[in-house]
Amino acid sequence: MSTTYQQHLTLLQTQAEQALARCGFDALLIASGVEKLAFLDDRPYLFAPNPHFKHWLPLVNHPDSWLLIRPGHKPRLVYYQPDDFWHVPPADPSGEWLAHVELVLIQRAEDAAAHLQVPGRLAIIGEADAALAGVLPNNPPELLNILHYQRAYKTEYELAQMRAASRRAVPAHLAARKAFLAGASELDIHRAYLAASGHTDRDLPYTNIVGLNEHGAVLHYQYQDAQAPAESRSLLIDAGAQVNGYASDITRTWGAGDANFQALLDAMERAQLALVDEVRAGVDYRSIHLSTHAKVAGILQELGVVKLSVEEQLAQRVTSTFFPHGIGHLIGLQVHDVGGFMADDRGAVAPKPEGHPYLRLTRPLAAGMVVTIEPGLYFIPTLLDKLKATPAAAAVDWSLVAQLSKFGGVRIEDDVVCRAQGGPENMTRDAFAALAS
Ligand code: GLY
Ligand code: MN
Ligand code: MN
Repeated sequence: MSTTYQQHLTLLQTQAEQALARCGFDALLIASGVEKLAFLDDRPYLFAPNPHFKHWLPLVNHPDSWLLIRPGHKPRLVYYQPDDFWHVPPADPSGEWLAHVELVLIQRAEDAAAHLQVPGRLAIIGEADAALAGVLPNNPPELLNILHYQRAYKTEYELAQMRAASRRAVPAHLAARKAFLAGASELDIHRAYLAASGHTDRDLPYTNIVGLNEHGAVLHYQYQDAQAPAESRSLLIDAGAQVNGYASDITRTWGAGDANFQALLDAMERAQLALVDEVRAGVDYRSIHLSTHAKVAGILQELGVVKLSVEEQLAQRVTSTFFPHGIGHLIGLQVHDVGGFMADDRGAVAPKPEGHPYLRLTRPLAAGMVVTIEPGLYFIPTLLDKLKATPAAAAVDWSLVAQLSKFGGVRIEDDVVCRAQGGPENMTRDAFAALAS
C-alpha cells in the first residue's frame, strides 16, 4: 500500500523530471543550506533550511547535506553527520523517508562534492554559501519558476503536516489567552505559548507576535515586554507551530470585557468567517482582499468610527488606514510561501490591485492551495495622523478612535485549504473545535 508520503515523493520526482526536461537539464542538485556565523564572531544564526530540500525530506536541522535528483533514479541523499563533540550532530538516519533514498553518509562537508558529480547539465538550487568545489549553485530561474508555481498545490501528505501544525499551535493559543486573562506580561504569555506547544523559540516557524494593549497596533511587533502593564485590556497573538518543516500561522485577538472592543471583535469574527467562506476554486484571491476592505468599511460605519457609507470610504481609501496589510498569503514550507504572484509557471506576474502594495497573493485559487485569511482592523498612530490630513477626517469620530486605540487592534487569522468543490477546509477552526469536543 502506498502511503501519502510515498505518493508525495512520486509526484515530486515526476514534476522534477518534467521540469528538468523542459529546461534542458540532466539532473537537479539541492543544497540543504549552511549555518552562518555573525560577523567577526563564532555564534551561528538560526539555521534556515532550503525549502526545496525539506519539500522532499522531513529534515530541518541538517546543514551541509545534499539531494541529487536524476530521471529514473532514486534520490541520492548525501547526509552530513560530523563527529562533533561541541554540538549534537544530526541523528542516525531513520524514518519512512529512509527507504526512498540512496543514502551516502559523510563526516566532512567538503566530501559531499565527490558524490554529486554526474554527467550532463546540472541545475543546482542553493544559497551561494553552499558552494563546494565544482558544485556552484546556479538557481536557474526558468526551473525555479516551474517548481515554485507547482508548490502552491499541496499533496495529501503536505496537508496532513499542516493540519498537525495547526493542532500543535491551538492549545498554545488557549494557554496564551489564559495567561493574558491572568494579567501576565507579554514575555510570560510567550512562555505559556512555548510550554503548551512544546516548541522552543528555535522551532517556531516565525517569531511570535505577542502584543498587549497598544502593541496590538504594530503589525509585526517584535518585542516581548517582561513587565506586565498596569491594565491588560487586549491581547493580539500571532503565533504558529511547525511539523516536519510545514508551518501554521494563526492569529487570535482577545479582550478583557470592554463592551466597545468586544463589539469590534465580534464584528471582525463574523467578517473573517465570511471571508474564509470565499476561499473556493476559481475565485481570484484579489477579490477576497477587496471584499475585506468593503467589510472593514461596513464595520467602521456600524461602530460609528467613520460616518461615511461603504462606497464613500472605499472611494476615499479610508479603509487602508485601518487595514493596511494584505488579506493573506500562501503558506506551507515557508510561512509566506513562494509563488504568490505567479500567473503561470513561466514567470508571468499576476499584478496586485492598484493601491494595495502589501497583498502577497494574486493568483486564482485552486484545489490544494493553502492560504491564510487574516483580516485586521487597527488603530495605528502614524496612519491615523495621515488620515487626519485628508478631507475624510471630518467624518471620523476621533474620540471613539482615541478610546479604541487603547486596545491596539484586531487580527484574526486562520489557515484554509481550497477544495476542488464547495467550501473550504478551515484547518485552524477544526483544530480549535477538536480541542473543545
Ligand atoms: N505571521 C505573519 C503573517 O501573518 O503573515
Ligand atoms: Mn499570515
Ligand atoms: Mn500571522
